[in-house]
Amino acid sequence: MTTILGIESTCDETAAALVADGRRVINNVVATQVELHARYRGVVPEIASRAHLENLLPVLIEACGPTGLEAVDAIAVAHRPGLIGSLLIGVTAAKTLAWALNKPLIGVDHVHAHLYSVRLVPPASSSSSSAVPDDPVRFPAIGLVVSGGHTALYAMDSFEQARLVGSTLDDAVGEAYDKVSAILGLGYPGGPVIDRLAADGDPAAIRFPRTLLSRQSLDFSFSGLKTSVLYRVRGHQGRQRGPESLDSGQIRDVAAGFQAACIDVLVKKLRRAVRQFAARSVIVGGGVSSNRGLRLALADFEVPVHLPSPVYCTDNAAMIAGLAHLSFVAGRFSQLNLDAITNSQFAEHTIV
Ligand code: KG4
Ligand code: ZN
Repeated sequence: MTTILGIESTCDETAAALVADGRRVINNVVATQVELHARYRGVVPEIASRAHLENLLPVLIEACGPTGLEAVDAIAVAHRPGLIGSLLIGVTAAKTLAWALNKPLIGVDHVHAHLYSVRLVPPASSSSSSAVPDDPVRFPAIGLVVSGGHTALYAMDSFEQARLVGSTLDDAVGEAYDKVSAILGLGYPGGPVIDRLAADGDPAAIRFPRTLLSRQSLDFSFSGLKTSVLYRVRGHQGRQRGPESLDSGQIRDVAAGFQAACIDVLVKKLRRAVRQFAARSVIVGGGVSSNRGLRLALADFEVPVHLPSPVYCTDNAAMIAGLAHLSFVAGRFSQLNLDAITNSQFAEHTIV
């Protein structure tokens, strides 16, 4: 059995996890900073890196459990993309552990790891190795990452080989959720609260625009939709008002209409991509993949759709340790001069 320790600190979650053989999650610990950033309605980089510094050691100790680092075969860390101050905390900790314990170091791409999270098996269902289900993903597949920082489509020949075939021209879909939540005077992060309110609203009450770009395009654009919600809530210039002018039913309808527009676009782009690349399955990952409306819309999709367990949709370190197992098996290791890098190699073209 190979056990990898994963470390994640790219944005505002400090996380560490132990994963066996790339799939069975042993421990998965996440310290969220949501409360620290909520009053600013978004992540403040300086606050995030300071909080990582405070949280990382206790999170690591909890993730390693009573056996400590004895049984760990390698140290994996998300070293791109993210906020530079946040990345540096995790990368420095991982290098230090690898050097002190004389264990291999494996740097992985956070966006790539979001797609890998569909392979993770939670602890409750992985108490024995025979409990790990078969890996049902058929390739070629289309990968869709929907998070606060990324909205991108990948043509995948395997979990290691993926090509970027579409991405957002402006806001990421999670970012649009967060901004619409701010417009409606709801909390941060916006995704979960809008998802909840949308379930009780009428998605047909307000038809917000769906931006599909050209007929074949696999790119996304969400800023027009966000602006449309802004005008709907605040009125056009000269008729400024706030979300307090809407009653709770109207807020639910805005949430439902906005969510319906997001889901429509995501599903239509997925259909296009599946057709263009003759894909046999779809893999979805990232914070927005926990959205109940999206999951419902994909339930009867034309090819099998693989979604992570809800706990592995948002940022976590189990996906980092899991993805690193592929590198471990292939003997691909990082050196101790591994850099923290703010952009995604995975988002730029081919990977690994
Ligand atoms: O993957 P993630 O934890 O961090 C990034 O890598 O960005 O994604 C966070 C994003 C936030 O924008 C949050 O509002 C969104 O995921 N999110 C959701 C839901 N839960 C989280 N969006 C829609 N519906 C949800 N249920
Ligand atoms: Zn993420």
